[in-house]
Amino acid sequence: MVMSKLVRISHALLIAALLVVSAGASVNAAPAFDSDAPVVLITGSNRGIGLALARQFASEGWNVIATCRKPGKARDLQDLAAANPRVIIEQLDVTDAVGIQALAERYADTPIDVLLNNAGISGGMKNETLGALNFETFDRVMAVNAIAPVRIAEAFLEQVAASEQKKIMNISSSEGSVASVRGGRLYFYRSSKRALNMMMNTMAKELADREIVVGLLNPGFVDTDMTRGVAFQKLSPEQSARDLYQVIIGFDETTSGQFLNYDGEPIPW
Ligand SMILES: NC(=O)c1ccc[n+]([C@@H]2O[C@H](COP(=O)([O-])OP(=O)(O)OC[C@H]3O[C@@H](n4cnc5c(N)ncnc54)[C@H](OP(=O)(O)O)[C@@H]3O)[C@@H](O)[C@H]2O)c1
Repeated sequence: MVMSKLVRISHALLIAALLVVSAGASVNAAPAFDSDAPVVLITGSNRGIGLALARQFASEGWNVIATCRKPGKARDLQDLAAANPRVIIEQLDVTDAVGIQALAERYADTPIDVLLNNAGISGGMKNETLGALNFETFDRVMAVNAIAPVRIAEAFLEQVAASEQKKIMNISSSEGSVASVRGGRLYFYRSSKRALNMMMNTMAKELADREIVVGLLNPGFVDTDMTRGVAFQKLSPEQSARDLYQVIIGFDETTSGQFLNYDGEPIPW
């Protein structure tokens, strides 16, 4: 009697456990995209250039995996997703190696045509000035701007390889061009973009025989939170995103590894 009660309880527990596992699996499954449209994954897509890029790709009919650190606070991105079922918001802090791996596993069966590393930070003038260099800031800037894009590219490599377009695109900066440096400032930001350029140029060479193309793009001087307070003529994020979109569409094996401006012109290393 006691024994059969125990068996019934253990059966009930087993069924409950299976239900929990299967509920977890469905929560974790990647959304089904429109298979006629290409897929772009964008990092830092809640504001600035990333948000404008998410809008641009969505308006061109792409499936957009729009990642950001805090989806609950990403009002503009939520509005975009509410108006466009092809835009899916995913949580991703680009410095979170475990989070990157989990997202890559969630999208293991989704070909990604364009992997677009956009998220970036500046260290702030006061931390990047000789005499007051803050090396904790250096670590943070390198982690977001240089290491994260490479880690993300490595994690999503097979999804890019399985796609039609096979592009790994990176928002770099003309500040990473040694040939263009004028004046002493932005030690860490400049170094991080320079490191990004070198790693992605190397990746372009390594992936050439898999027909994966890798690009480095300068978005121009754009009116975002990053450039707030700097009195200089700026592009709107929308204009920059429109131009970047055209450069990304035109990017192919003949330009792989190159560092291009938003107008498509090469930038000196
Ligand atoms: N604006 C320009 O003139 C200019 C010029 C050259 C290059 N760029 C490059 O363009 C890219 C976008 O910059 P922006 O001007 O649009 O700057 P922004 O308005 O400051 O936006 C930066 C974006 O990066 C995200 N981000 C920062 N740290 C992150 C992290 N750890 N994980 C995930 N997301 C993170 C931010 O998310 P949160 O909201 O969560 O912080 C935000 O979405 C950057 O790579 C920047 O270096 C900009």
